[in-house]
Amino acid sequence: MKTQLIDNFNRKITSLRISVTDRCNFRCFYCMSEGEVEYYDRLEILTFEEIKKLSEIFVGLGVDKIRLTGGEPLIRRDIPRLIRQLAHLFIPRGDLKDLSLTTNGFMLKDLAEELYSAGLKRINVSLDSLNPDKFARLTRRDALHRVLEGLDVAEKCGFSPIKINVVAIRGFTEDEILDFARMARTKPFVVRFIEFMPLDMDNRWGEIKFIPGEEIIDKIDAVYPLEPLDTSQNFYAAKRYRFKDDSGEIGIVSSVSEPFCGSCNRIRLTADGKLRTCLFSLNETDLKSPMRNGVSDEELKRIIIKAVNNKEAGHKIHTTGFVKPKRSMSMIGG
Ligand code: 5AD
Ligand code: SF4
Repeated sequence: MKTQLIDNFNRKITSLRISVTDRCNFRCFYCMSEGEVEYYDRLEILTFEEIKKLSEIFVGLGVDKIRLTGGEPLIRRDIPRLIRQLAHLFIPRGDLKDLSLTTNGFMLKDLAEELYSAGLKRINVSLDSLNPDKFARLTRRDALHRVLEGLDVAEKCGFSPIKINVVAIRGFTEDEILDFARMARTKPFVVRFIEFMPLDMDNRWGEIKFIPGEEIIDKIDAVYPLEPLDTSQNFYAAKRYRFKDDSGEIGIVSSVSEPFCGSCNRIRLTADGKLRTCLFSLNETDLKSPMRNGVSDEELKRIIIKAVNNKEAGHKIHTTGFVKPKRSMSMIGG
């Protein structure tokens, strides 16, 4: 029987997000600043060997879901090679139920096929607007057309599911909610609306408001009737709904208005090798230094178990004591 990662609140930790780079070719305003952004020195970033080694240790501790994130993971050189190596390592052994990746979609057009044949079968694509001008305003890149092309290629390759992440922002997203619903109905995509969280470099969260998930569901339900899916068997951050006429699924990730911290099963590894037990952690645990100093796998396991035991109860966004973490989403990995 494997040692399991269980924290002090009795939550079993089975899902690991690995950020493979803090760099990004977009500049979404809810995440990064527009100007020059300081990145980690390349030597600070975990090598593929190091990522594999830590993944093995985490999988040995019961992690059965790995998601690669960034920054933008597809701009890390040779990323299909890492996918291939992780897939070879874990898929035949049945250790991983899930290997997935979150991308802004810009590189999908070129890489989807290679990623698929390397063993990646599921992807999440961030897409916050279907209007080219709004897309360009939000990401500060004129790239909607290219992302849509990338989605087409991914669909043809056979990725399933393809999930679309839409960050829902007051005064920005409202008039596109039904367009996204139609996308979920006509394409084999699962669309998920995510509440904007205070993880942006520019500290604009107080000023820019999110749209509560509930409001989005009501708006869609009025036009395309929905019913909730039973998600009690598994932990999903998203509350999922199906269209009553059987034409697809949408979800809401209400991290702010209805936090799911009580059943959170996630931890995160940053591109520079720090273990974060919560998106909003104020402390992190350095795994890279001990690994580079040559400590044993057993010792690394002990460090991880200790850090996970102390996983935060939950975020404190709604309290006066809330302290925004120093890292933005691009430096954590969503
Ligand atoms: N709030 C909510 N979601 C965010 N993302 C990035 N920054 C934020 C934020 N401040 C999303 C991206 C992507 C995922 C990795 O996280 O849109 O879909
Ligand atoms: Fe890049 Fe993703 Fe952040 Fe947008 S949200 S700037 S695509 S890391």
